[in-house]
Formats: sequence, structure tokens, C-alpha cells
Amino acid sequence: MDLNRICLLGIFLFISSVNSFPQVGQATSLVTPSSGKPVDNNSSEEPKEQAVPVLPKIYEMRVDANVTNRFARCQITSKVKNLDKKAQEATFSIIIPEQAYISGFIMEIDGKQYEAYVQEKEQAKETYKNAVHSGQAAAHVSVSARDSNRFTVSVNVEPQKKAIFYLKYEELLARQNERYELVINIHPGQPVKQLDVQVNIDESRPLKFVKAPALRSGNEIGKNDDKLSPNAEINHINKTAAVVKFSPDVEKQKQYATDLGTNAENGLAGQFIVQYDVERDPQGGEVLVEGGYFVHFFSPSDLTSLPKQVIFILDTSGSMDGIRITQLKEAMKSILSELKPIDVFSIVEFGSNVKVWNIEKSAVQYRSGFDTWGLNEEQAEEAKHLTEQPIPAPYTASEENIKKAEGVVDQLKAYGGTDIDSALKTGLQIVKKNHEDKKHQPIIVFLTDGEATVGITDTDKITRTVSELNTGKTPIFSLSFGDGADREFLQKISLKNQGFARHIYEAADASLQLQEFYKQISSPLLSNVTFKYASNVTELTRTEFPILFHGRELVVSGQIIDPGFSPSSVEGWSINGPVKLTPVIQNSVGNLERVWAYLSLKQLLEKRDAADDKEAKEGLTQEALRIALKYSFVSDVTSLVVVKPNQTDAVDTEDGSHNDRRYPIIASGFPLSAIASSKKGKPQILSAAASGYYSAPIAPLSPGSSGGGYGGNGGAFGWGVMESIEEDDTYGDRIVGGNSGSKLFIRPSTTYPSTSATASAVAPVEPQPVPIPQSELERLKEKLPWLATILSDDGTIKISAGKFNLGLNETISTQPECPKSPSNAPGTCTLINKCPQIFTQLTDLHVYEKYFCDIQGFAGVCCPK
Ligand SMILES: *[C@@H]1O[C@H](CO)[C@@H](O)[C@H](O)[C@H]1NC(C)=O
Ligand SMILES: *[C@@H]1O[C@H](CO)[C@@H](O)[C@H](O)[C@H]1NC(C)=O
Ligand SMILES: *[C@@H]1O[C@H](CO)[C@@H](O)[C@H](O)[C@H]1NC(C)=O
Ligand SMILES: *[C@@H]1O[C@H](CO)[C@@H](O)[C@H](O)[C@H]1NC(C)=O
Ligand SMILES: *[C@@H]1O[C@H](CO)[C@@H](O)[C@H](O)[C@H]1NC(C)=O
Ligand SMILES: *[C@@H]1O[C@H](CO)[C@@H](O)[C@H](O)[C@H]1NC(C)=O
Ligand SMILES: *[C@@H]1O[C@H](CO)[C@@H](O)[C@H](O)[C@H]1NC(C)=O
Ligand SMILES: *[C@@H]1O[C@H](CO)[C@@H](O)[C@H](O)[C@H]1NC(C)=O
Repeated sequence: MDLNRICLLGIFLFISSVNSFPQVGQATSLVTPSSGKPVDNNSSEEPKEQAVPVLPKIYEMRVDANVTNRFARCQITSKVKNLDKKAQEATFSIIIPEQAYISGFIMEIDGKQYEAYVQEKEQAKETYKNAVHSGQAAAHVSVSARDSNRFTVSVNVEPQKKAIFYLKYEELLARQNERYELVINIHPGQPVKQLDVQVNIDESRPLKFVKAPALRSGNEIGKNDDKLSPNAEINHINKTAAVVKFSPDVEKQKQYATDLGTNAENGLAGQFIVQYDVERDPQGGEVLVEGGYFVHFFSPSDLTSLPKQVIFILDTSGSMDGIRITQLKEAMKSILSELKPIDVFSIVEFGSNVKVWNIEKSAVQYRSGFDTWGLNEEQAEEAKHLTEQPIPAPYTASEENIKKAEGVVDQLKAYGGTDIDSALKTGLQIVKKNHEDKKHQPIIVFLTDGEATVGITDTDKITRTVSELNTGKTPIFSLSFGDGADREFLQKISLKNQGFARHIYEAADASLQLQEFYKQISSPLLSNVTFKYASNVTELTRTEFPILFHGRELVVSGQIIDPGFSPSSVEGWSINGPVKLTPVIQNSVGNLERVWAYLSLKQLLEKRDAADDKEAKEGLTQEALRIALKYSFVSDVTSLVVVKPNQTDAVDTEDGSHNDRRYPIIASGFPLSAIASSKKGKPQILSAAASGYYSAPIAPLSPGSSGGGYGGNGGAFGWGVMESIEEDDTYGDRIVGGNSGSKLFIRPSTTYPSTSATASAVAPVEPQPVPIPQSELERLKEKLPWLATILSDDGTIKISAGKFNLGLNETISTQPECPKSPSNAPGTCTLINKCPQIFTQLTDLHVYEKYFCDIQGFAGVCCPK
């Protein structure tokens, strides 16, 4: 092995493929010094100098975007100089929209260019998924920007040398709220002397308007604050083209930072937005044709909304208690008030059991199961009685009913487990009840903040049975509320059921987020929309859509075989019955091939995510891979590799730290702040933690081993599985990591100790589950002997409400109210071990079940205040 070479590779690269990750403290910094946060206190030499390194300076940052045919190609250029006397690690960290694909990356170090290339990634490990599943999120996690991914690369820069990074990404702008929106994240981490953003719009249709609204933090709904207006320069070149420029100077950047509520010294950290729309063809949309490809944009402007039947299925399990249910109630009231008198609706509530409300009587009419928890005898008797009632049919959204429904919303109470399966099945039964009524477009809005804990808890099984039962193809729109929800599952069940899933971030504006989401699906214009093309076309993207909503747009693309191409029609069901619309043909501005490739890849990956059987999944993966590789899109099936050969010099070599050296291997941006250290030559990961989650002790990074951090569930990632260290002739050693499929390439840092020469291929090590402190468990088992009978090895207990983790290693700050504690008064739901004062009363399982409550998915007990 060419040791020299391994030692001198100093790059890793990580592309996240999952949206909205939690973030570690430094992740907002674009440039961080490697010695920014000393890990040990024992470094005897010159602690002062270490403490105040001169940050590598970004002296110029540019964002260029070309938008043509609604397709945006962006390039970010960042120029950095190391002003320190030592080599330093510069980290280039960029936030890109969730829907965008990175398509190129070049870095130029000391005048030499290194270009990244896209490569197939290995199959993500099943263990990763499991790890994510068991890693229940406990604390609030702040996110650097919602609905986005982060790209991070770190590189050593020698003293007084420069590094330039170029990142390209592409995205088809999705029309929402009657406009296209290009979001540009600007997070340099420091004020930048020369900061320029330029957006060139060159469309095929006349521009209706071009706007640059107030800057956004990315973590809350835009406030349209005058102070945050970018005062961008907008030049209309002609009817179809415009240029938008934004170049705040250092003072202005600091001012914006302050106004956005961030630290001025860290420079601007926010989103610059450009919005526009084009003139519409009122009929069947526009078909752009160019170079053997076509793209059909369809967004008819003069249709009346269809009447709809909305079934709200709302999670009111224990974990919703507190601010969540308050926000949900607030949102529901606003949403209800927007229903139109021609609409019908139902409110279904679920915890450990499912309740359907009789709106007119403002009372629960149907109740599945009879979990009598929290009820007195009389109420329990009544509850049993209710199960015999038929499920009520939907109610018309008359003024009077809406008022009553608001009263129902007020009565929602959070407690119990989470029976997702029964809740969805009940929702579908209500749809069926209304089936003869072809007039109303059914829509299921399903909100949950947790994982299934009661009834059927196998998410694949729920997905399968619910999809089978959904014979009427009612779209199911899922909302995952907070980090505890199983986002992957919700995404899948919605994709399989003609809907989509959205995440509601836990924040002060959660109620607004819910309302914003509802707005997008509140006006169905057409149902069963089918695009038909008479002539010989091939490689078509999706052509059938269950619903077209007001303000949005449907897009179909394909390849043209027959030169005499002519689209024929778009068919659908409108308020006046079937309609058949004819599109117009339009010349495209520029190339359409990448638009087609983008759409095809996106849809293939969605199909793959929704697919059940392995073979179909594999086939779709291969197809997606082919397109991703051909068009250089970094996606779930590909990853980006940069190899920078023969880099010399080291980070802090002269610092001479003795036993515990810190290796700046790992990612900021990767939500794992993992720090490697060598103890007597053995590299070791000291800690790897997704912020807000566990800080998991990691198996030593004995050459070729596992690393990891504990991540949240629900799609946010956090398992930095380093599967193996591979010996690779071309790139030297690399540590291969999986993260929801992306591969994490880690080049050992420059000062990797020579003993790492033993880092040859070693069998992958399974990530270890987070150990539960044994002593705590033993103590608990001693006090509560009955626990042993229901306890499994992984620290979960099985009770009638489902399977719950004891959460011994958890700190849960929220203390939801619960109606009855052993002292016969209301109490607060608390982890069992945190309520030792009632241990003597918890004599057996039966008693415990009486006082059980679900606290953010953990086994809680109603603890006297
Ligand atoms: C370093 O010092 C700080 C403050 O004195 C202390 O909290 C921390 O535990 C120390 N860390 C180590 C690794 O000794
Ligand atoms: C720092 O030094 C103390 C005393 O020598 C030792 O106990 C401790 O483990 C050291 N900490 C680290 C992080 O090496
Ligand atoms: C935008 O278009 C111009 C002119 O065609 C081109 O020079 C530039 O490289 C493009 N920028 C991006 C980011 O594609
Ligand atoms: C409008 O300007 C753009 C950009 O300069 C150019 O590409 C396009 O051809 C122009 N369109 C018309 C109709 O002049
Ligand atoms: C949807 O439309 C297509 C063609 O327009 C038609 O064949 C199909 O039966 C329709 N499906 C439903 C459920 O109405
Ligand atoms: C479409 O083109 C293919 C290949 O050129 C040909 O085999 C097929 O017969 C054509 N189909 C129609 C309907 O024209
Ligand atoms: C890297 O180093 C090796 C051996 O020192 C040398 O043969 C090779 O040409 C170098 N490659 C580059 C790109 O500088
Ligand atoms: C979980 O337990 C481990 C081992 O005792 C401990 O190191 C870690 O800090 C604990 N994590 C939390 C979040 O309490």
C-alpha cells in the first residue's frame, strides 16, 4: 500500500440525500478552522494560539442561476484564502433545496483543479434503517433550513494559499401558489467582501411578474418584513426575460443577519428568493419541443374548484400533548373556516383507539376498541356503548357545522398510544360510505407525530393493507409533525396512495405550516387527469395524475421518435363533467434533455420508494442509476467522489498534541459531529452525535470498523455507518459509509498516524445499538420486579398499548398533563425511572397499565405533581 498516498489524501465528501437534517453547531459555518473546538483540555502547548485561529477567509462568493423552461441551473462559487500561518481546514458547506440535484463540483486548490465525478453508491445497509428506526428522537432539533440538503466538503489549505469551490445544482421549479419560486440559500458563515447573486430568467412564455420578496431565515414562514427586503435589482430585458441581482455589501449583510435574528459576525444566513410566473395557455397547456424531447406544462387557469370531501385524521396520542395539540387546534380552526359550503368533511381522532366525531352533536359517535384509560366507570360504560354506533357519514361544511366542528376541535385531548392502521382504515370506510356520491373529490389528510405503537405496528403491512383497501384511489396526504414521526413510512404510504407527504417542523409557526400545506390541496380543479400523445413518443414520464390542484402545475416530458410530433389532449374530470383540453406547441428556449432526465430520475426514485417487492425496487434502482450516471445527477443512487492526490502538509502538525490528536475527518453538515482521534496510534471515533439526539459511544474505529452517531427517525438521518475501510488502488483507503443510501467517502486527514497502515480491509462491523446504562435498568428491575416479565433485551416493554422503550437514557423536557396519577389527582406524564416516588404503588403490570401514558413514544407513567 502506498502509505504516503493514503496519508496525504485529505478530502472527504458527503452528500446528504435526506432532507432537513438536524444540525450541529458549526454547520452554519462555511469555513471552519480545524482547531476550532479543541476536544481535550490537556493540550499543554500554547493553548492561546489554538483558541484563536485566523479563520480562512471567504473573499468572494457568487451564486449564478439560469432559469429556462422553469428549469434552474445554479452555480455557487466560493473563494477562500487561508490567512493563518498554519495550514487550516476550509469547509465548503452549502445548503441546496431538497428537490435539487447536484450535478457538478470542482475545487481549485493552489491553482490546481480537482473535478468530482458521480459514481454508483453501494446498497445502503439495512442496519442503517434499523438504526434510524430505533433512534427515537427526544429533543428538539434545529434545522439549518427546512426542506433542504447540505453539501459539505473539507479541504486543507496551506498558509496564505487559496481554494476555490464551484458547485452546480439543477432543479425543475415546482409551481405552487400560482408562481415559481427559486430559493437560494446564502450561509457563508462570515461576512463576505464580494457577495453577488444573479438570476437570469429566460422563459418560453411572457413573464407575468418577477419578484424578490423579503429574505427568509429558511426556518419559518416568510414574514415579508420590510427590513428584510433584498431591494434586488430586477431588469426586464424583454417580455420573456429578466435578470435579478442581489449584491449586499458587508454592512448590509450584517444588518440582514441581525434582522433575521442571527449573529451579525457570522454574516448573512438566510434565503434569497426569486418568484415569477408566466402567462398561461388557458386550455391544455404548452408543449415545448426541442432536440428530440418535449416538455408539457399544464396549468389551466379558468377552471372552477371541484367540491371535495375532506377526512381529517388527527393523531391525538399522548405525545401530541402540549404545544403540538395547541398548534393543531389553531390550524384546524383556520382550515375548517376555509371549507366551502359545497364541501363535506369528517373529523377522525386517534390515539390508542379511533374516534369519529358526530359534528352535529359535537360528540364522539363511533369509537373503535374500548380503551378505558383515563375514563371513570360511567364514561367507560358509555365508551363501550359507542363502539356499537355506525360510523357517521361526512357532514356538509355549512356555517353551522363549521362552528360545531370548531367546538369538536376544542375537545380534542392528547393521550394514549398511536393506532395508525385502524385510523387510516376508518378514514377509508368513511370515504366508502360516501361512495355513491361521485360529486365530491375525496381527500384524506392524515397527521401524526409518532410511529405506530398500537394495533398493527408493522409499517409495511399497514402500507399494504391500506393501499389494498383504498380501491377508490383516494389520495392520502400525510403530515409528519415533529421529529418523532416515521417520515419514510408516511412518504411511502402517500406515494402509494396518490398523495404526497409533508413535514411539519416543530417550531412556533407549526400551525402556519399546517395551514400553508392545506392551502395547496384545498382547491382540486380536475381529477383523473390523463395526458395523451397521439404520435410516436417514448420514455414518457408520468402521464396520469389523480388530481390537479389550483395554483400548481402538472409536467410531462418524453422523447420524440416521430418528427411529426403532435400532442393530442389532456383529459380530466371537472366540476362540469369530463373535459378534453388541447395544448399548444411552443418552441423551447434551450435544451430540454436535462429537464426530461431530471423528471425521469425523480419519478423513478419515487416509484422505487413506493415499490414493495425487491425485484421491482432493484429494477427501478438500476434504471434510476443509469440516468443519474448519464446526466451526472447526485441522487439517492449515486454519490460524488473527489480525489485530490498527493496533498502535502498537515493540519496543526506543529501543535504536537501528544496522545490525543484530533483528526478533522468528519463532516459538519453531516449531522454527526464525529471526531476521530488516535490513541496510541489507533484511530478512534470519540463521539458522533446527531445534535439533539443521543450522544452515542462508538465502537473504536479500529481500522475498518464502524462509526456512528445516533440519529433521529423519521427520515432525518444520523447514522454514520462506516461500513468498512477499503483498500482502493485508485483512491487510497476510504471509509465507506451509508446514509440513507449515500456513500460517505472519508479521506483520512493528512496527519493520519502511520499505524493506520494497518487499516486494510476488515469486515464491516455492525453498528451497535445505543447501550442502555445497565445499572439504571438493574435498579429499576429491582424496584419493579414485574418489569422483567415484559422487558426485552433492547430495553422495550410490551404492554397492551403496544411496544414502548423505557427511555432510560432519555431526557424529555416536556411534561404533558395526564388526567389520573396514583395519587388520584392529575399528574404529568414522566418516564418511569424519573418517577421513583410511586414505585411502591406500581405493584404489578396491571397497576402500571392503569397509569401508563405515552411520552413521545416512550413508556411513561402519570406521575403525581
Ligand atoms: C475540559 O474542561 C471543561 C471545562 O473545564 C470540562 O467541562 C470538560 O469536561 C473538560 N473535558 C475533558 C475532556 O476533560
Ligand atoms: C487529561 O488529563 C487528565 C489528567 O492527566 C486525564 O485524567 C484525562 O483523561 C485527560 N483527558 C483527556 C481527554 O485525555
Ligand atoms: C448561464 O448562462 C450563461 C450564458 O449562456 C452561461 O455563460 C453561464 O455559464 C450559465 N450559468 C449557469 C450557472 O449555468
Ligand atoms: C429576450 O431576451 C433573452 C435574453 O437576452 C433572449 O435570449 C431572447 O431571445 C429574447 N426574446 C425575445 C422575444 O426577444
Ligand atoms: C380516468 O380517465 C381515463 C381516461 O381519460 C379513463 O380511462 C379512466 O377510466 C378514468 N378513471 C376513473 C377512475 O375515472
Ligand atoms: C413508433 O416507432 C417505432 C420505432 O420507430 C415503430 O416500431 C412503431 O411501429 C411506431 N409506432 C407507431 C404507432 O407509429
Ligand atoms: C503523486 O505522488 C506520486 C509519488 O510521489 C507521483 O508519482 C505522482 O505523479 C503524484 N501525482 C500527482 C498528480 O502529483
Ligand atoms: C446514554 O448512555 C451512555 C452510556 O451510559 C452515555 O454515555 C450517554 O451520554 C447517554 N446518553 C444520554 C442522551 O443520556
